Amino acid sequence: MSERTLSIIKPDAVAKGVIGQIIADFEANGLQIAAMKMIRMSKRVAQGFYAVHRERPFFDSLTDFMSSGPAVVMVLSGDNAIAKNRELMGATNPAEAAEGTLRKRFATDIEKNAVHGSDAPETARTEIAYFFPELEIVNEK
Ligand code: CMP
Repeated sequence: MSERTLSIIKPDAVAKGVIGQIIADFEANGLQIAAMKMIRMSKRVAQGFYAVHRERPFFDSLTDFMSSGPAVVMVLSGDNAIAKNRELMGATNPAEAAEGTLRKRFATDIEKNAVHGSDAPETARTEIAYFFPELEIVNEK
């Protein structure tokens, strides 16, 4: 069944010039770009997005990083899009990410880890709605 997930190409990966390589991987693996835009998050927008992590010791540093430069936000759609995207991304910590995954290839460290992907259907709904009104989701599979 077709499913939606939110993907973010984080500021570290945008700065490395690997937007195209990341998107090529999604498309080659059956994930369709249903919506996409480049944004520069304010600190407040980053804090809102990562609100579930607000008690974590890395929250301030993470939201500084996420607001440090442009990011690409996308809605990916396709069969098992949430799990498929997580498989392509690899483990949160690039030191533990499998060979060939996006984080193994492009992440710097556990914080500057190149990409974000929703972890479950409910979070996917909330995260997509945070960045995309329904009328901007224009190319769903
Ligand atoms: P993401 O998948 O976007 O979800 C939460 C983010 O917090 C994660 O990727 C990392 O960017 C960051 N993160 C998770 N764990 C740590 C940590 N131990 N130290 C710093 N940043 C972290």
